[in-house]
Amino acid sequence: MACVVVVGTQWGDEGKGKIIDLLAEFADVIVRFQGGSNAGHTLVVEGEKFIFHLMPSGILHKGKTCIIGNGVVVDPKVLIEEIDQLKEQGYLQDDSQFLLSEQAHVIFPYHKQIDKGRERIRSGKIGTTGRGIGPAYEDKVARDGIRFVDFSDEEVLRKKLEANLAQKNYYLTHVLGEEGLELEPLYQEYMQYGTRLRQHVTNTSLFLAQQIREGKQILFEGAQGTLLDVDHGTYPYVTSSNTVAGNACAGAGIGPTQIDLVMGISKAYTTRVGGGPFPTELSDEIGEMLREKGGEYGATTGRPRRCGWFDAVVVRHAVRVNGLGGLAITKLDTLSGLKTIKVCTAYQVGDDVITEFPASSELVARCQPVYEELQGWHEEISAVKEVSQLPPAAQRYLERIEELTQTPIHIVSIGAQRDETIIRHNPLLS
Ligand code: IMP
Repeated sequence: MACVVVVGTQWGDEGKGKIIDLLAEFADVIVRFQGGSNAGHTLVVEGEKFIFHLMPSGILHKGKTCIIGNGVVVDPKVLIEEIDQLKEQGYLQDDSQFLLSEQAHVIFPYHKQIDKGRERIRSGKIGTTGRGIGPAYEDKVARDGIRFVDFSDEEVLRKKLEANLAQKNYYLTHVLGEEGLELEPLYQEYMQYGTRLRQHVTNTSLFLAQQIREGKQILFEGAQGTLLDVDHGTYPYVTSSNTVAGNACAGAGIGPTQIDLVMGISKAYTTRVGGGPFPTELSDEIGEMLREKGGEYGATTGRPRRCGWFDAVVVRHAVRVNGLGGLAITKLDTLSGLKTIKVCTAYQVGDDVITEFPASSELVARCQPVYEELQGWHEEISAVKEVSQLPPAAQRYLERIEELTQTPIHIVSIGAQRDETIIRHNPLLS
């Protein structure tokens, strides 16, 4: 298949990085289309751990083009650090391997200051990553944003930055009680970043159109997860972008008719980091066991992730709003050793049983999960090569997820390493 979109089906951290890295071997181009350095994609290659916040997870493969699309908000400092680190480790030797959209918006220090300052005074805390994501998207929609194309004209950049600083400094000092910023050092610093990144900045939509015409395999890499989508997630406890597959088009500059398949990534249980409702959350020793065994600590902020059972209501919602054609189930190995495993099939609110995810976060907070109990398994499973070699209870667990979500499981991940994966169906090979 030519164009495949991969998205998270829960609250992010589903293990997308590993699956993208794996699929990237069969792709020519890997594209990020939304979010920014709030993301933290962890990859383990030959025992070495890599965490990327901005770089598409395909960057560890030679000969692939990695793109940051127009829908991403980019902190140039973080991006340059990632480029430098990759080069030091022997990757990204060819600069043309990485392209950055000229239309992508730039994150400035005031975005981060506003993000953190607002979070400090907000009553219902979202628990943002503090990376300036929300304020940068606000500027984009308010038509105040600064884009990489603006770095091509020093005067344009200076004028825009000056106008922005006038507003931001007022807000920072008068509303948030923070320090304001000076134009000249900020301008000089960012001009340097612009110069450093110039060779990568281009019309990535045009590049993608050419690649599609040539029949190249393209992988679109979603960040965060469906329940963090600004429209379809647990608003207002969400991120500020559309994380759903539809945004691969707007965020990369391609048309919806170009997408051939959307694959959803689901963890075999559920995690969430930051505030907001989470019906299947476990605050007992099982939740603790999932956190420790699954290494459930944020890749960007290091915060402990909240852990709970697999929620089929959530994943069914993701199947619908993304149009998922297949699932990859990750971290199945973390569940080994549990006597029984619960799966949430519906929610109980008062006398009502609901099977669709509610729009109101207040209502979600009152939802009690309706559980089905399945048998667990004690064997460690990371060396297994086929689904049929998994313990029968693990096979049944996967079947039940397929039944409840009405979606076939194409990939099962049973460890952090590339080879600890069962690929039943590779969407890029069909
Ligand atoms: P923001 O994206 O930094 O504005 O944070 C908004 C919410 O999304 C917070 O609850 C964050 O913890 C969450 N979030 C943002 N990025 C990620 C991610 O990559 N994985 C998991 N949660 C995330």
